Amino acid sequence: MPSEIILIAAVTVDGFIARHSNEIITWTKDLPLFKKQTMGYPIIMGSNTKNTIAHELKGRGVIVVKRSDNPRDVLKNISSKKCFIVGGGKTYSRFYPFLTDIYITPHPHIFGEGVPLFSDKIQSSKLKFVNLVEVPKQVGIYQYQYKIIKT
Ligand SMILES: NC(=O)c1ccc[n+]([C@@H]2O[C@H](COP(=O)([O-])OP(=O)(O)OC[C@H]3O[C@@H](n4cnc5c(N)ncnc54)[C@H](OP(=O)(O)O)[C@@H]3O)[C@@H](O)[C@H]2O)c1
Repeated sequence: MPSEIILIAAVTVDGFIARHSNEIITWTKDLPLFKKQTMGYPIIMGSNTKNTIAHELKGRGVIVVKRSDNPRDVLKNISSKKCFIVGGGKTYSRFYPFLTDIYITPHPHIFGEGVPLFSDKIQSSKLKFVNLVEVPKQVGIYQYQYKIIKT
């Protein structure tokens, strides 16, 4: 199992990752940063996300999970020291118990409704701030990096 299991997401200010489960995301501004950070590592996504991905994911081992996949077993089969959980809300929830880090980039939108970051009920956690990364060429958009402290 990787020692770093990192959730990476772009969210609205009200905590949504998409307007609906089939949305092809065009409002995020952090794709170059996402690409740089995930390059060379396995990325895990749910089948809805796979169906909405419009961009290239070359250079990364893409693991698409179905409901029949056990998250622990999926992670156990990864030999790399780091992997990324890249969405969507259902998949973030299912892998939440195993996360070590969260990289989250709030975007200047309020959707009011949609797919939340975690679409299932999860346990609470505390986060420890680690780093703030400016999203290149974007004014006022930053990625917050946290370690998860399970309570
Ligand atoms: N803003 C961002 O950073 C970001 C990142 C990633 C994705 N997104 C967006 O998020 C949206 C998709 O999110 P999502 O939450 O709908 O889907 P998702 O997590 O991408 O895919 C759904 C996953 O949940 C599984 N599942 C469905 N029903 C289940 C059940 N009852 N029990 C256990 N597992 C179940 C599915 O398996 P089956 O294949 O077996 O159904 C699939 O693995 C898209 O619009 C995408 O563009 C946004």
